[in-house]
Amino acid sequence: MTDAELLARADAVAERAYAPYSKFHVGAAVLTRDGNVIEGVNVENAAYPLGTCAERTALSRAVTEGFGPGELEAIAITASPCGGCRQWLHELRIDEVSYRRGTGEIVTTTPAALLPDTWEL
Ligand code: THU
Repeated sequence: MTDAELLARADAVAERAYAPYSKFHVGAAVLTRDGNVIEGVNVENAAYPLGTCAERTALSRAVTEGFGPGELEAIAITASPCGGCRQWLHELRIDEVSYRRGTGEIVTTTPAALLPDTWEL
C-alpha cells in the first residue's frame, strides 16, 4: 500500500469523527507490517480535555488488536500531529508518518524528525 492510498483511507474515515465542539474532523490510518489497516478518528467530549485525537484512537486500536512497538510500518493523518501524538508515534516506533499540512501539502517523515531528542524512560 502506498502513502497516498493510506492517506486516502484516513480521509475516508475522517467523516466518522465525533467533533461537535471543534467541528475539525481528523482521520488516521495505521498500516501494520503484515498489511492490516487500522483506522481512527478524533472523539471529543463536553469535558474538553477528555477528547482524543484520531492518531491515538488508531494507535490504541492497533495495540488492542495485538500490534505493538515495531509492528507498525506507517501512519497517515489528515492533519499535522499534535505534540502529544508525536510522543505516541515515537513510543510505538512507527517507521513513517505522512500527513497533510493546513496548506494542503503532504509531508512524509519520521517520528524522530517530528520529535527530536525525545524523552523516554
Ligand atoms: N486533533 C487530532 O485528532 N489530531 C491531532 O494531532 C491534532 C488535533 C483533533 C483533536 C480535536 O478533536 C480537534 O482535532 C481540534 O483540535
